[in-house]
Amino acid sequence: CGIIGYVGDEAAAPIVYQGLENLEYRGYDSAGIALVNGARATGDVAADGGLTVAKRSGEVSNLTVPDAPDATCGIGHTRWSTHGPPTDANAHPHVDCAESIAVVHNGIIENHEALKAELGDHEFTSETDTEVVPHLLESELSETAGGDAVDLRTAVERVVDRLEGSYAVCAIHAGENRIVAARDGSPLVVGHGEDAAFLASDVTAFLEHTREVTYLEDGDVVDLSADGDVEVFAPSDDAASDASVPDSSASSDANAFLSRRPVDRSVETVEWEADAAEKAGYEHYMRKEIHEQPTALRQTLSGRVDVDRARVDLDVSFPEALLERIEEVQIVACGTSYYAGRYAARLIESFADVRTTVEIASEYAFGAGRDPDRTLTIAVTQSGETADTLGAIRRADSAGARTLAVTNTLGSSVTRAVDDAVFIRAGPEIGVAATKTFASQVTTLALLAVALGRERGTLSASRARSVLENLRGLPGAVQQALDAEADVVAAAEQYRDEDAFFFLGRDLGVPVALEGALKLKEIAYDHAEGFPAGELKHGPLALVTDRTPVLAVLTEGGSPAETMTNVTEAQTRGADAIGCVSADREFGTLDVAFEVPDVGLLEPLVANVYFQLFAYHVANEKSRAIDKPRNLAKSVTVE
Ligand code: G6P
Repeated sequence: CGIIGYVGDEAAAPIVYQGLENLEYRGYDSAGIALVNGARATGDVAADGGLTVAKRSGEVSNLTVPDAPDATCGIGHTRWSTHGPPTDANAHPHVDCAESIAVVHNGIIENHEALKAELGDHEFTSETDTEVVPHLLESELSETAGGDAVDLRTAVERVVDRLEGSYAVCAIHAGENRIVAARDGSPLVVGHGEDAAFLASDVTAFLEHTREVTYLEDGDVVDLSADGDVEVFAPSDDAASDASVPDSSASSDANAFLSRRPVDRSVETVEWEADAAEKAGYEHYMRKEIHEQPTALRQTLSGRVDVDRARVDLDVSFPEALLERIEEVQIVACGTSYYAGRYAARLIESFADVRTTVEIASEYAFGAGRDPDRTLTIAVTQSGETADTLGAIRRADSAGARTLAVTNTLGSSVTRAVDDAVFIRAGPEIGVAATKTFASQVTTLALLAVALGRERGTLSASRARSVLENLRGLPGAVQQALDAEADVVAAAEQYRDEDAFFFLGRDLGVPVALEGALKLKEIAYDHAEGFPAGELKHGPLALVTDRTPVLAVLTEGGSPAETMTNVTEAQTRGADAIGCVSADREFGTLDVAFEVPDVGLLEPLVANVYFQLFAYHVANEKSRAIDKPRNLAKSVTVE
């Protein structure tokens, strides 16, 4: 789900709506906006003392933006459904009985049933877990503390401290040009504008307005006021030790609730350009992002490679003793990041001579006689917010393993959960199906594999140089694949209506085969499976017909001759074969061949670019919702 909030001196509705469009990749089951009705000219609030709420199932474009030029404070939400189907009623924002409080929420409130039971006299209108929040706020705000009415921030503090689960919540109240929000387990970032403040699930929501941001931490409550002032309050043990600062909950029942104090959270400048998150003339973000891969890869490599000295600098220093005693590298990840991990594991084993396991994050457990002192666990996650991956890396951390994040997102939750973080620097990726981040993840992890190999003395300088040369050649090799896009379009037109697609590979070709099939499933909704090529004859071959083309990785790093044997087994059963083939090889029996320039063990990564283009063009032929495939979301912040 995506959250956006704005308070300042401009009309909030168009800014919030634009933010929702920017955030739509986080979920597009429904969308909504709530505004504080106000009198803009004077800065006074609440011309009629109420809120304007508009919400709708479906994509953001279904939503009619309220015509409210005087409202200068608003929040919005785009939803990926967890509790309750994507109906108008279940869309956020949710309001209290008096419709004077509106709330948007990202995450899951696990104890919502119990909380709802306490609110017996409140009328609920949705099936969401979120709706308890505005009702709880309503109860708090109707109370007084020490003769004074409870204010919105105190109410939010009291309510969020009762929530179990994960949340980023954001509330507005009729009569106040102000947003109060809190996070615990779901991302929230503040944008600092001129006489304005923004709040969002990620910076792409407001990048056209400001690049000055503050990443909130778990437990924080933030108060954004009409003049753009931002105050952050954190639970006391994390708060400023200045004894003169009054305890923010001093007037409330301090025993029952966490006490918070003001804290200074740093302001950082986001380096992404605003237009990096725009389509720049491409019909879809996905195609733009596929084409950005050479640039993304150059950024990933920039300043990190010294070929002559056979060295890599990732700006992360593991304790020397760990490098010597390490017995296992574990990689935890989901989706495309998991396949990047599978690719990397082979490289780490080969270069650093250490057992490397890769686990689907939701299945990960630390056990089976492992020694945490000899384990490095790596979370690979583009967004840095995937709940399954966060859960896994936290399990590794509590078991005592050394932890590392490989992510695209500065300030993301994973970076706080680990000992060290390395950024893949791919730039913003908006298309739900990951493309350029896969290439940058594998490249970053390949650099890590070289670094580990060199530091452990298991990778010779000459072999390291050759790998680093190949990495440097990768952006150019990917560009050559992109230049051959017309050939891929022709293949997509030819094969678009087949029954199913089987992707085959060996060794480093296996994760690419799996990733190729995933792309086609995700965006074309076609049945596609990836198999280790040698396994075809042990079962899947029964599925092969003349309506099931096979797509194969026939490159360096992927045992091409052996893989071709398996491709031929499929061709013998009538299937057509499409192969990505190293430049110095030829397999004359292929029906379609795409050439892969010589980049050694990175050649399967170039084959992957052909598979991305193939999936894209098959989906495009079928007019699929490529950037926002049905039922999916880019950043899945629930387990
Ligand atoms: C979602 C997305 C996938 C992505 C996966 C992991 O399922 O739809 O494209 O690969 O999450 O995301 P992460 O941000 O952790 O890499």
